[in-house]
Amino acid sequence: MQETISQYTSEIKSFQAKSQDELESFRIRFLGTKGIIKDLFEAFKTVSSEEKRVLGKVLNEFKQLAEAKYQTLRESLESLDTQTESGQDLTLPGEGFELGARHPLSLVRKEISEILKKQGFNVAEGPEIEDDWHNFSALNFPEEHPARDMQDTFFIKKGGEKGDIALRTHTSSVQVRMMEAGKPPFRAIMPGRVYRNEAISARAHCFFHQVEGLYIDENVSFADLKQTLFHFVQELFGEVTKVRFRPSYFPFTEPSAEMDISCSICKGEGCQFCKHSGWVEILGCGMVDPNVLENCNIDSKKYTGYAFGMGIERITNLKYQIKDLRLFSENDIRFLKQFQSEMI
Ligand code: PHE
Repeated sequence: MQETISQYTSEIKSFQAKSQDELESFRIRFLGTKGIIKDLFEAFKTVSSEEKRVLGKVLNEFKQLAEAKYQTLRESLESLDTQTESGQDLTLPGEGFELGARHPLSLVRKEISEILKKQGFNVAEGPEIEDDWHNFSALNFPEEHPARDMQDTFFIKKGGEKGDIALRTHTSSVQVRMMEAGKPPFRAIMPGRVYRNEAISARAHCFFHQVEGLYIDENVSFADLKQTLFHFVQELFGEVTKVRFRPSYFPFTEPSAEMDISCSICKGEGCQFCKHSGWVEILGCGMVDPNVLENCNIDSKKYTGYAFGMGIERITNLKYQIKDLRLFSENDIRFLKQFQSEMI
């Protein structure tokens, strides 16, 4: 009997299963209810008690060997099953990948647009490279206005059909393009990048972003402007936000104003951000000057309208308490990662 066992032992050791069927035959042959091991145990009952002492151990070891072999073969066949022909295991967990985060300026631009879209504004865009007419002249800038100065404007080319070519210094140029291209009423916002020739520091940059607003129709009044902006800041900064308008000057609006909101960081108590005044300026606005309407072939006797323009960086600074403008364009991943990630 010992000899039979040792023959079977070497058979088991060298056995390889290439399929589930082969493995199953192995199981039936050795471990099945009518299998070899069962028979051996039956035969074991008939041997002398002297032999039993030695054989018992051998037999048990043999049984364990067969079981272990079956187990190993089963596992390796299972893992083979999950592999593709080229050997990739499709059951392995995937490698996690990190979602990017939206740029804070994009987040705020989107928020501003969503709020104003609800108030009936469409979204429009215009070119960043502009001529003098759209950036200045049509907007009623006098010939000698300092904003036309080389110090503020990045000029690209002298002359041209509609004056010098430059990088737009504000999104108000898109107002002109919109009014020239269509017929009133207009109610649109125009987000975009603008450029000014300034030394780069924490508080100034040579490019930044604005959102322009324009509403032209019959009987539009300053009260409409105030109401729109009031609701806008309440949605953007919360209902506790207070607003105040200060008289100001822009060549393209009359009357003109600047709008302050109660500082959203210190809630008007006074902090470094609002220079301890409790107020921060967020935009310029006013009633579109009749000269601008006429420059764009709109009857200023029939139509009136308002315009406003705000800096996205400034609003983002307030919302996220960012104190250095340079962070927005440095692409420091540690800065960018902090903002809400979102599927595009
Ligand atoms: N264009 C102005 C600026 O860049 C902002 C503004 C827009 C003011 C519309 C009034 C009306 O400062």
